[in-house]
Amino acid sequence: MSKVRIYTLAKELNLENARMLEILDGLGVSYKSVSSTIEEDTVELIKQIVAEEGTGSADGEAQAAAPAESQATQSQATQSQDAPEQQETPQAAQASATAVQTRDDVAPASKAEIPHRAPVVTIMGHVDHGKTSLLDYIRKTKVAAKEAGGITQHVGAFEAQTSKGKIVFIDTPGHEAFTTIRARGANVADIAIIVIAADDSLMPQTREAIAHAQAAKVPMIIAINKMDLPQANADKVKTDLTQLNLVPEEYGGDLIVVPVSARTGEGVEDLLEYISLNAELEDLRADPNGQFSGVVIEGKVDKQSGVLATVMVQEGTLHVGDFLVVGENYGKIKAMMDSAGGRIKEAGPSTPVQILGFSEVPTSGEKVSSAKNEHAARDLIASRASDRRDAEGAQVLRKLTLEDMMGP
Ligand code: GTP
Ligand code: MG
Repeated sequence: MSKVRIYTLAKELNLENARMLEILDGLGVSYKSVSSTIEEDTVELIKQIVAEEGTGSADGEAQAAAPAESQATQSQATQSQDAPEQQETPQAAQASATAVQTRDDVAPASKAEIPHRAPVVTIMGHVDHGKTSLLDYIRKTKVAAKEAGGITQHVGAFEAQTSKGKIVFIDTPGHEAFTTIRARGANVADIAIIVIAADDSLMPQTREAIAHAQAAKVPMIIAINKMDLPQANADKVKTDLTQLNLVPEEYGGDLIVVPVSARTGEGVEDLLEYISLNAELEDLRADPNGQFSGVVIEGKVDKQSGVLATVMVQEGTLHVGDFLVVGENYGKIKAMMDSAGGRIKEAGPSTPVQILGFSEVPTSGEKVSSAKNEHAARDLIASRASDRRDAEGAQVLRKLTLEDMMGP
């Protein structure tokens, strides 16, 4: 009996992964992710179903015609059946959530009209395990070599054109001092890559990075780096991972583990393939014409240009001249640069941009919204400030009342 991975079978049958998961749900077959394996007799059954149904578009019509209620019941059943597993791995939750989302797609909703966006992938791991080098290999740059002391001290956000399309990468520092930066990096990610050096295995900040990804409920992919070294020991890394209840696929679990080398490039294509598979499953979409929203990745003062903010566009489109509000701070975009440093006039979803125009350094991790004009920006800030004062006042009052009650 030979088992087959779900995504391999989907590829073979020319089906979208999401459609394959629908079929599996329909059959009541449980799985944790597209990389789970299925039994040979199930494979035969799926082949029959696909042959009977004909092409993918015909499936879509049949699904759309089905009453919405029965679709909902089906997804609930699937969810409760998978419930205990979902809590164990983020991938499981992701796979199921996507299967449910896909059903929404075929319903007469407008989600399918919203364009896809590039995935945001955060790279995390222990210091010196090769995160920046891996990104350098992917982006064909040499950032690691230029860093002071060879240590990343801030978060970098980059757009990379890869063989699998555009991917936005966020590089984070591995040094123990930068816990908050890692946590924020995990929070804006669609996928987290945990880089582990094959000669060092799991280290304190590896565990911390894994915990951030789990807390942010972001699917994880493990990249075992430095496989070119003679002392590389991928098996030890995999065994160590199982002790954290993260079981690699080849040990019967669902954790995707990819051995790579940032030096030779070995395995990097596989890593990109897994990222794009995962992104496809998550069905990431954002409306470039919708209301703008974004998040501050980083803010700093540049000696020459003044306050410089790195913002990730999540929804809508930013234009030079737009008014932005972050917390109780606003600014008008004077100039905007892409991650390569080139000037741009506008930026759509999944684009990290550097912005000149804030008068104060915006706090990393804060939400960014836009305002129609300066007046609207000031109004928004005034109402935020008044909400804050009310909340602070209420707190003081609560404290006073409590003291009254406890009084002499
Ligand atoms: P921090 O940002 O400080 O946490 O480090 P990092 O994880 O970004 O590591 P970085 O890319 O700076 O690499 C650390 C060291 O490991 C450098 O000397 C790299 O040349 C080396 N290195 C990175 N990847 C590989 C690899 O695949 N093979 C070998 N042999 N060395 C590597
Ligand atoms: Mg680095």
